[in-house]
Amino acid sequence: MTAVGAALAGVVAYDLTQRRHAILRNFPVVGHLRYLLEAFGPELRQYIVTGNDEERPFSRNERRWIYSTAKRQDPHFGFGSDVDWSTRPGHVLVKHAAFPGTAPGDAEPAGWPMPCAKVLGGPHGRRRAFRPPSAVNVSGMSFGALSGHAIEAISRGSAAAGCMQNTGEGGLSPHHLHGSDLVFQIGTAYFGCRDARGRFDLGALTALVEEHPLRAIEVKLSQGAKPGVGALLPAAKVTPEIAAARGVPPGVDCHSPAAHTAFHDVPTLMEFVERIADATGLPVGIKSAVGEQGFWEELAARMAREGTGPDHIAIDGGEGGTGAGPLVFTDHVALPFRLGLGRVYPVLAEAGVADRVVVIGAGKLGLPENALLAFAMGCDMVSVGREAMMAVGCIQAQRCHTGRCPTGVATQSPWLQRGLVPERASVRLAAYVAGLRAELLRLARACGVPHPALVGCDRIELLDGEDTVTAAQRFGYRPGWGIPGEADRAALLALMDELARRRPEAEPQTIPTRPGEAPHVP
Ligand SMILES: Cc1cc2nc3c(=O)[nH]c(=O)nc-3n(C[C@H](O)[C@H](O)[C@H](O)COP(=O)(O)O)c2cc1C
Ligand code: SF4
Repeated sequence: MTAVGAALAGVVAYDLTQRRHAILRNFPVVGHLRYLLEAFGPELRQYIVTGNDEERPFSRNERRWIYSTAKRQDPHFGFGSDVDWSTRPGHVLVKHAAFPGTAPGDAEPAGWPMPCAKVLGGPHGRRRAFRPPSAVNVSGMSFGALSGHAIEAISRGSAAAGCMQNTGEGGLSPHHLHGSDLVFQIGTAYFGCRDARGRFDLGALTALVEEHPLRAIEVKLSQGAKPGVGALLPAAKVTPEIAAARGVPPGVDCHSPAAHTAFHDVPTLMEFVERIADATGLPVGIKSAVGEQGFWEELAARMAREGTGPDHIAIDGGEGGTGAGPLVFTDHVALPFRLGLGRVYPVLAEAGVADRVVVIGAGKLGLPENALLAFAMGCDMVSVGREAMMAVGCIQAQRCHTGRCPTGVATQSPWLQRGLVPERASVRLAAYVAGLRAELLRLARACGVPHPALVGCDRIELLDGEDTVTAAQRFGYRPGWGIPGEADRAALLALMDELARRRPEAEPQTIPTRPGEAPHVP
């Protein structure tokens, strides 16, 4: 009995002090059950519960790919595909080239840079325009929705991977300041750049820009998981730290209204964007889910007429994630990503402004096949939200809204956060981002081009019953749509050519952008 007690005490002590597994640090001894179930789960589930492809939002296979990429485990799977193609409408099929691998050098692309195909803010002459060094970046997720430890892990990991981290609408906190380049998001409550009455304050924003490593600004119109509704962070969750990041009083309910007060239609939105870009010199973009079509038509027409407008447009799919959202909005409001982009990109292309703007996609695009389709349909960059959460430890327990996240990712509880060790989790985030880029580069090469932005929409077919349609047919794309214009293509090809000549194990290099801009790429 004493021996059992001593052994248990030993396991408890080990679990509490080890730094590899959040679940064991937070739930000593019982946490091992999860690993046992994980080990035998596939066999059990195959006969009893669910298949590898059934769970949502991310299936077992999808999560397995994210976890193994984050842990740099063997990415290969044996015995062939277990996907039942007959039941998967929309399943992505890539038509590889007969003679792949046009890029010089045969080395594996793991760890290779995959810059954005366009210069962000370049066409609108922004003073601090730059070419984003990574076309895969971390999507907006607020401090408040995520824990300080998770934000710090993402900041450190993004810095190591050479990608950008979007702050989300919850303001800027010390947890964001661990090396990542930041996109500062402005939501309806103007957290971090508001006056005492909660109105937008340009002076507060320019002060923030001067003091912090902000590379771009994003005005959030809506989010796929809850478009058209505001949000409430209950008083109990408004800790002094969160209150400081948001510029609100601690311990008081913190509301985000449904609509902006700084603008109310397309012309005033465009003025708002210009005002911020003029004052800060930074590229300024917008993020929105896709609902009414008239908005995009008016925006594109005005951009074409006036030669101004947002420097990036981030399209968020209705299947996107949130810290907490009303189910009917999560399930029924806004178009899923493919349909949304398939409506918006043609409007930009028709108006002749697709080359003037960096198009960003989000909505389960942290999986290589989905991301490739997004690039083929006109995205220049993809943002990953929940996939980044999984890379730093999330197990899809879907309790984010309760504040009791067992892995310390989406909680403000110091005890639960203790399980997530930022330094360690950051390595996984960096490995995941680099691994996704590597897979995209492999796919692009299989299609005969050196960058996924150069993969055409007719290269991809989507299952449709017993037959397939090309993505171009499915979304009504004209020849040439979805890939960057001639000048951007030539610049990208030259850049990829130069990067491919460098050995993958070479010292971190910088991608040439503009004088004074020197992003770090692993
Ligand atoms: C916990 C959590 C918090 C989020 N917070 C924000 C936010 O503050 N602003 C925003 O624009 N989107 C927010 N999102 C949405 C993501 O940025 C992203 O657009 C969406 O989840 C789709 O990407 P994914 O499928 O890779 O997760 C949040 C998502 C999650 C899961
Ligand atoms: S582990 Fe569960 S509660 Fe925590 S972030 Fe992931 S889904 Fe949310």
